[in-house]
Amino acid sequence: MTTPTATATTSTLAINGGTPIFDAPVPFMAVGLNKKDIAAATEVLESGMLRAATKCAELEKQFAAKSDAKIGLTCSNGTTALQLAYGALLQPGDEVITPAWTFIATVSMLVAAQAKVVFCDVLEDSYQADPKDIERLITPNTKAIAITHLYGIPVDIDAIEALAKKHDLKVIYDSAQAHLAEYNGNGIGAYGDACTYSFYATKNLGTGEGGMLTVNDEKLATKISHLRSHGETGKYLHESIGFNYRMNDITGAIGLSKLQTLKADTDRRRAVANIYANRIDTITGVHRPIPTANSNPAWHLYTCRVDLETLTCTRDEFCAALNKEGVPTAVHYPKPLTDQPVFAEIAKNSDTPKIAEKLATVVFCIPIHQNLTDNQAHGICDALTKVAGAFAK
Ligand SMILES: Cc1ncc(COP(=O)(O)O)c(C=O)c1O
Repeated sequence: MTTPTATATTSTLAINGGTPIFDAPVPFMAVGLNKKDIAAATEVLESGMLRAATKCAELEKQFAAKSDAKIGLTCSNGTTALQLAYGALLQPGDEVITPAWTFIATVSMLVAAQAKVVFCDVLEDSYQADPKDIERLITPNTKAIAITHLYGIPVDIDAIEALAKKHDLKVIYDSAQAHLAEYNGNGIGAYGDACTYSFYATKNLGTGEGGMLTVNDEKLATKISHLRSHGETGKYLHESIGFNYRMNDITGAIGLSKLQTLKADTDRRRAVANIYANRIDTITGVHRPIPTANSNPAWHLYTCRVDLETLTCTRDEFCAALNKEGVPTAVHYPKPLTDQPVFAEIAKNSDTPKIAEKLATVVFCIPIHQNLTDNQAHGICDALTKVAGAFAK
């Protein structure tokens, strides 16, 4: 790893033949299984008990407890977790406010549930849904808020819960990126009607495919468990239409194994985020994420913004230069959902989400995971400093 000179010019950039900060690219994420995860999966394989069983049940119990929720329900993935939450809490035709800046599943599953989608905008510095914009959009027909703790940063839960109370709205928190995130000192599972999680391979707790819901109401949990498994209320007794969205016990065992280190892994992400915050605050041309007040993010992604007013380059040119310094980047997301062809009809009747549209041109994520060393985190900041310096106006 090299240290950048204070006065970087474009000719010093690796993309123009200069010496890169890193000899080899830093890994963007840490995925995969360790020996204990593999042993946990092997134990289930050897038992022959492959369907949802004791491992899924234990994962539900422990995950809910660690999230400050009463009840956990495993399921096949984060998309079906949303489908189960919406299916249990919404009626066709319900008007639901949801952010234009999130992963598609938060909203596509609303459409699948035949809800009427109303897009709200987000806040520029935290990237989270803007409670004031949500309030502006509430009508007598609004029945719910379906909102994402995006990148692992909790939304302004106090503001959302106050709106929900005032207008008698259901709240579903898409927590696919926010395992073990906290708000006001509590796990995020303490809030809302339901939290939904994804255990997709790259998530903070990744089992390949997999998902979870946490709820705090027994009746709701029962309704969700019926929806999850053929509406079955007794052996071959079906009282409602349901699906098969169950998790299998191999996945459950991997999830349970990974859950044992999730807190330590999350704290490591938080330590890296602290290094980033202190360093990025000194860099002109790059903005860091500012977490919601009273929140403790899970930092699934560390999403920065280029300041196009002070730089001579675009976001993509900035990222291309950073990549050549050995810092991989990703763009989550290249479009607000109002620009997705599938939502064109909904977008036609929505206000333009100005902040979400701007974010699509400026955001970029830098590596954050439990295996990142302090040295690597500082090197990444050195690369940001070098590239921002070289492209300074
Ligand atoms: C915010 C959000 N919601 C929902 C999902 C869907 O989860 P899955 O891929 O497990 O279906 C994801 C996954 O990327 C996500 O990031």
